[in-house]
Amino acid sequence: MLEIIDLSHSFRNGAEETKVLDGINLVVDKKEVVALLGSSGSGKSTLLNLMAGLMKPTKGSIRIAGQPIEKMNENQLAEFRRGNIGFIFQSYELIPHLSVIENVELPLIFQGEKPKLRKEKAEAILSQVGLEEKSKLYPSQLSGGQQQRVSIARSLVTSPSIVFADEPTGNLDTKTEEEIIGLLLDLNARLDITFMIVTHEQEVARRAERTIVLRDGRLVSTEESRGAAE
Ligand SMILES: Nc1ncnc2c1ncn2[C@@H]1O[C@H](COP(=O)(O)OP(=O)(O)OP(=O)(O)O)[C@@H](O)[C@H]1O
Ligand SMILES: [Mg+2]
Repeated sequence: MLEIIDLSHSFRNGAEETKVLDGINLVVDKKEVVALLGSSGSGKSTLLNLMAGLMKPTKGSIRIAGQPIEKMNENQLAEFRRGNIGFIFQSYELIPHLSVIENVELPLIFQGEKPKLRKEKAEAILSQVGLEEKSKLYPSQLSGGQQQRVSIARSLVTSPSIVFADEPTGNLDTKTEEEIIGLLLDLNARLDITFMIVTHEQEVARRAERTIVLRDGRLVSTEESRGAAE
């Protein structure tokens, strides 16, 4: 599903160059749930943004569904991302003046989907995340956990093969966090979607199938956490 080969990334600030990722190798299978851990500043968001094609690596290759995304031009990448990749942000990033269902329909508008089908797909995914009753409300009328559910629905509405989530429960209380993680695991089981979840929370990591840890720009450990817990 996802294959990363000798990936390195540096940020340049004037004359100074900071190496954030150094020689990362990783293979993630279809339907896996992987938790990505590491201290603040260790490069988790950078790695996630590279994997999701939101920026280009300094060196190395990122293959998603067999396609080396670092070789694509802007248009190819935009189209590939629309069809294959979902992204969930810590701060939801919903559009405030669009209703819940309009927010979820947005990626389908970019895909050129017909209005009737768009509405059907958005309604179906909103019921998967338990928000069918809230579709006409606006983001400001929802709780944080509900807003995150909308953003999850928006990331899934195009039926991506892989979804990247950058601290999806970072702004939520413990109980809501558990619900959201439970929802992601449930969607993973029901919809055949691969998930890569960046987190600071051990609880999230404990429930993932596999955890990987970033330290000093390298992946330092990999464990089968679910297997170990059971
Ligand atoms: N656009 C940028 N330009 C320069 N440096 C950057 C840029 N983005 C990130 N960095 C640097 O790269 C390093 C890793 O940042 P990153 O956001 O990936 O960390 P993180 O592991 O996600 O941290 P957190 O847990 O706080 O979200 C940091 O030292 C940061 O300052
Ligand atoms: Mg981050």
